[in-house]
Amino acid sequence: MRIAVVHGPNLNLLGVREPDVYGTATLDDVNHALAGLADELGAVVEPFQSNSQGAILDFLAEVRGRVEGVVVNPAGLGHTSVALLDGLLATAKPFVEVHLSNPASRERFRRHSYLTPAAVGVVAGFGVDSYLAALHCLVNHLRRQRGADPGETPPGRG
Ligand code: DQA
Repeated sequence: MRIAVVHGPNLNLLGVREPDVYGTATLDDVNHALAGLADELGAVVEPFQSNSQGAILDFLAEVRGRVEGVVVNPAGLGHTSVALLDGLLATAKPFVEVHLSNPASRERFRRHSYLTPAAVGVVAGFGVDSYLAALHCLVNHLRRQRGADPGETPPGRG
């Protein structure tokens, strides 16, 4: 099972960017932890970060045929971008929205996300663990979906 992981703008600066809010783990640390968990779960992650929305949309269009789901930290784009929502919907794959911080407990403008209504779920406020929980939950979700389809491998076997 292949899962795309999208990190939005400024997440390349994890570890040095507002560490009191986002923690001290770097983007490499996050991707490394995700790869380790994916391995344990029998999945593979394909991480991608860009500060450019266009590059993220191109990545989503490119991977749509080879991934079963998407874990996405939209960063600031979640609060502003219909285009990112449309790019995720165009993959026709389930996605989980992730935030390191808990945007609902911060400034008012962070309380709205264009992605949330279309996400399978949202994990926020747990730092790197938000990503790990999101990956775990998405894999379980996809396995349950497969199990519900009689033509597919039952949960835990694929
Ligand atoms: C963030 C929260 C967003 O509000 C912010 O713009 C980010 C990071 C998070 O992971 O907590 O860049 O998505």
